[in-house]
Amino acid sequence: MTNSNERPRIPTPSAPIRRVCIVGASGKLGRYMVQHALDRGYAVVGVCREQSVGKLAAFADRITIVPGATNDRDVIRRAVAGCDGVLTVLAPWGVQQYSSGTAQAVLDFAEPGARLVFSVGWHITRDGKDVYTAYLRAFVWLFGWLGRLLRLAELDDQVEACRRIFASDRAWTVVRGSDLEEGESQGLPVWSRHVGDAVLQSNRTRRIDFALFMVEALRDPGLIREAPAIVGCATASAQAHGGVGMVGRAA
Ligand SMILES: NC(=O)c1ccc[n+]([C@@H]2O[C@H](COP(=O)([O-])OP(=O)(O)OC[C@H]3O[C@@H](n4cnc5c(N)ncnc54)[C@H](OP(=O)(O)O)[C@@H]3O)[C@@H](O)[C@H]2O)c1
Repeated sequence: MTNSNERPRIPTPSAPIRRVCIVGASGKLGRYMVQHALDRGYAVVGVCREQSVGKLAAFADRITIVPGATNDRDVIRRAVAGCDGVLTVLAPWGVQQYSSGTAQAVLDFAEPGARLVFSVGWHITRDGKDVYTAYLRAFVWLFGWLGRLLRLAELDDQVEACRRIFASDRAWTVVRGSDLEEGESQGLPVWSRHVGDAVLQSNRTRRIDFALFMVEALRDPGLIREAPAIVGCATASAQAHGGVGMVGRAA
């Protein structure tokens, strides 16, 4: 890591990862995370909406499912109990402060010292130093406007969720995904602190590898209180420029 002197390091949570809660487990990203977590031998608790429980049928005998809205504080309180890590899909859907309600419940009820990893997109900025293309700015503006108009999504609420996470003294990581695609795993994505950095230029990550990064982040103390923007390790920009790898791994 090139600029590790910028912020003081905080102590690494000491507990090994044994049990993880996946909030938003039934979505595409969520189901990949369930598989990666099971592959690592973790006990898994999955939270998903009642109507989506069937999407977890393939894992039903290997995980504990807590049905309910992810911004239901009682659902989250029960699901995260005893978990060493919580992986949360922050989705802006609906107009009931779904993202901020979900994030706040996780921040409030996760075990002390638990590793908290949240997923968002590149449009989230931590320090305002990200440099966005005109296309991405236009897309975010249009999606935000249409989402509000049709009462389908609240992009602003995902921003608010992240503001609360960034202000928290928890052991959090906010993973910022590029445009996503399906396909076989290519390996662990590389990351950089700011959108606009050359390594991220390809703007493409396999969804399965986004999930891999989320799960591996649980064990990487170098990612505590970081907001890594990720890109697929096999993309042209990652190959040309390298990037920051996880602790103990080549970029
Ligand atoms: N899609 C992209 O191109 C992209 C790019 C960069 C970053 N990301 C980030 O990646 C993460 C997941 O993205 P994804 O595209 O792979 O989606 P996904 O995994 O399918 O996740 C969508 C999540 O939103 C939930 N959801 C859908 N409709 C909902 C509604 N009306 N009310 C409440 N919850 C609802 C889903 O739950 P159910 O299973 O119950 O429907 C699921 O948990 C998000 O954090 C997103 O910001 C996505």
